Amino acid sequence: MDIFEKVLNRFGPIGKYRDQGEGYYFFPKLEGELSNKMMFMGKERLVWSLNNYLGLGNHPEVRKADAEAAKEWGLAYPMGARMMSGHTKYHEQLEQELADYVGRETSFLLNYGYQGMVSVIDAMVDRKDVIVYDSEAHACILDGMRLHIGKRFVYPHNDIANFEKQLSRAKKITDQSGGGILVITEGVYGMSGGLGDLKAICKLKEKFEFRLLVDDAHGFGTMGPTGAGTDEHFGVQDQVDLYFGTFAKAMAGIGGFIASNKEIIRYLKYNLRSQIYAKALPMPMVIGALKRLDMIRSGSEQRDKLWTIVNALQKGLRDKGFNLGDTGSPVTPVILAGGVPEATQITFDLREKYNIFCSIVAYPVVPKGVILLRLIPTAVHTLEDVDYTIKAFSDIKEKLDKGEYSEGGMKGVVVE
Ligand SMILES: Cc1ncc(COP(=O)(O)O)c(C=O)c1O
Repeated sequence: MDIFEKVLNRFGPIGKYRDQGEGYYFFPKLEGELSNKMMFMGKERLVWSLNNYLGLGNHPEVRKADAEAAKEWGLAYPMGARMMSGHTKYHEQLEQELADYVGRETSFLLNYGYQGMVSVIDAMVDRKDVIVYDSEAHACILDGMRLHIGKRFVYPHNDIANFEKQLSRAKKITDQSGGGILVITEGVYGMSGGLGDLKAICKLKEKFEFRLLVDDAHGFGTMGPTGAGTDEHFGVQDQVDLYFGTFAKAMAGIGGFIASNKEIIRYLKYNLRSQIYAKALPMPMVIGALKRLDMIRSGSEQRDKLWTIVNALQKGLRDKGFNLGDTGSPVTPVILAGGVPEATQITFDLREKYNIFCSIVAYPVVPKGVILLRLIPTAVHTLEDVDYTIKAFSDIKEKLDKGEYSEGGMKGVVVE
């Protein structure tokens, strides 16, 4: 069969809805300045869909630092991969400052969090090793594991009894093979906002002698007393062997890092294929990240603002009877019952009647019959935004309960 013909016949689980949904549900264009209110299809909407947690994305000081760095260095510098010709003292400085902030000896920059994570997993394990991971692991963790030729065992999300069972299975294998165990979890799960049960996981370290890799994409900058992450929140920084953060969320930039002890980072520097065989982060990204880190580190003002909004939103929604699942982070999922037709019609109603833009997740990303409206509060939202949204959501829920979204009549994706 012709490869082109094959893929065009399938188009994938989301792509099959492209004709009805493109431009509105998929690939929507949010225009104007990054903020709590942005333009969508020519109208101003209240946006709860950006991981700009601390509001740094459009902060004047950040914009200034980005612009000055771009003016001074351009986007080309440095040319080449770090190992060959793209290394600079600024990259090194950022690595050390990130490590100091998250309480590790040192760190190594990643051009994208996603690719970096794939490479970290690839570099850490070989055929004798076993990976044990949480069933809700992010796609970058799953893709990293695709490269792993040894065994892997999954445990149901945060199910510690089952986790222990999987560790026992893993240990049996590594006792024979002479390999080791790598456990991978997230700090904050980006869809549900639930926290990886790092305390319980770490308690089993001694018994099973595993190494722990934590993807803290959503926790870095938002969780813990100083914002240093979910492991700081739980007080287990010294037990997390490899700490991964991205710049794509609280840092409102691009890139990421992996932090650990000096020897391991030295090993990774020479073995992370996504960094050895790819161009270094451009200078404005590095200088811009230094500025962002400085702001995150030196003041809690943005974090306090974020948590004021998070607490007001989550309390307000809970008081109105909404199910927010087990979120323990800023990520605020509103869980409703319904299928794809209801999900798309609710999204449409929220956008067109209430001018609220939020992300919606339905089957197959969540189980059949569940709709998840995901709200991401940020430091640039206001308490008025929160009140308005809670009222709108109460309206939506009333209509859903009355069955107003189960029939057609409103613009929505037609599902066969
Ligand atoms: C949990 C998690 N890990 C990794 C990534 C990938 O990071 P990046 O956007 O830097 O590639 C994301 C999304 O951005 C994420 O949510």
